[in-house]
Amino acid sequence: MIIDSEFSHYANLEKQLEEELTVEVTEVTSIDRALSFIQILPDLDFILLNINNFEAKEFVKLENFLIDENIDVALLVIGAAIPDRQKTTLLKFNIESMNFLDLVKDIFIKNDIERKKKSAQLFTPVEIGYILEHRETPFPVDFFLRIKRSEDEFQFIKRLHANELFDDEEIEKFKKHNVTQLFIQKNDYKTFLDFSLKINLNKKPASKMNSAFNYHLTREVLSLMGVDEELEKTVSTNIKEMEANLASNEALANYLNLIKKSPDSFAYAHSSLVALILNKVVGKFDWDSKMIREKICYAAFFHDLTLVDDKLTRVHSEEDLYKEATVEYEFLSQSKLRDKVFKDFEVEQILQHALNAAIIIEKIPSIPSGVGQIVREHHGSKNGIGFNNSQSISLQPLSMLFMVVEDFVHEMMKLEKITKADLQKIVKNLSLIYLKSNYKKAVEALYLIVDA
Ligand SMILES: [Fe+2]
Ligand SMILES: [Fe+2]
Repeated sequence: MIIDSEFSHYANLEKQLEEELTVEVTEVTSIDRALSFIQILPDLDFILLNINNFEAKEFVKLENFLIDENIDVALLVIGAAIPDRQKTTLLKFNIESMNFLDLVKDIFIKNDIERKKKSAQLFTPVEIGYILEHRETPFPVDFFLRIKRSEDEFQFIKRLHANELFDDEEIEKFKKHNVTQLFIQKNDYKTFLDFSLKINLNKKPASKMNSAFNYHLTREVLSLMGVDEELEKTVSTNIKEMEANLASNEALANYLNLIKKSPDSFAYAHSSLVALILNKVVGKFDWDSKMIREKICYAAFFHDLTLVDDKLTRVHSEEDLYKEATVEYEFLSQSKLRDKVFKDFEVEQILQHALNAAIIIEKIPSIPSGVGQIVREHHGSKNGIGFNNSQSISLQPLSMLFMVVEDFVHEMMKLEKITKADLQKIVKNLSLIYLKSNYKKAVEALYLIVDA
């Protein structure tokens, strides 16, 4: 069962549902998040939404997806503000006038009886595409293949033990027989979901980029931006404190370690430059503080946590998703062009990366509060999905500064050899783009830095 996370005000709902209906409850913060779960686990019991928390078009997107993909999961919506929909499992009711838990129970039981008729209750399907996408990762659960014995009888055969990998031959067989789903035991559901969330953390960070430019940050380059040895030292102290603080979190500690081990990599240069220059920029504001500088350090190193290679990290706008292919494939439409550069799951990963990284960051209590929000907002959208270049003023000030500085670093890293004039030109261009609020202030601070 998926519920939208705004339900917390219906006291204890999650706990009651888990206890009384013995279902697993997963909370999601957005429709897109719900969609990705449905794609991985199409056999949910329920999706419960409060329409007041979503725009109608988002709801329609979810509903259409269920219809198009022929996914038979009950969609329960609170709130009367939705126009009638056709061909749908939508159920409307008014929270004020009914006993909420009883109603959910009623529907659940009805649904569950029908479901029992259809297939065994002990297993839940997982999309095979998702498993193959992560075929180098051993999952901590057993996988089963479902075989139809008669009209309503299935047999489940174990194909893979927990913590083992599929071999090529097996995968060929799946393809040959058009297998689209594997199954896991319902008891393993939570383990599987938790593990899926963590998966990105275990991948290798950005590798060294094969460009003529060596990203090793020389003193010479740094001093063009007024980064002196003292500032370098302050930032490296912050990094050390961050490392000590995260020592008990194996995944994050590894991630940091791997970045630090390759100082010539895009990932290292990108993160350090963002940290250093952002330090310079906040130095121009009167709310500058030690705490702010600590947060900057976390955000600089972890904002692209869930992107696994440079090719993905370098995408900073919707256009970047297909730009690289435009010359060679000029005749193709935009969506086709995009496919030439990135695979579907990579596009998905890019569009969701800010949100996914924020979800992980916010689960770690030792990371200062507010870091998650910068990470979520670092491409301009408040919910962390996609890119928003409209300079929303509803982001927190630090996120706005982060965006401008990242843009600056991004442009700077495209250069083969960096001169002061180049940096001034970059800031000039940014001043034509960023016209309001703290975005503009960040550009003004950058002016002071590169003109000095
Ligand atoms: Fe980035
Ligand atoms: Fe990013």
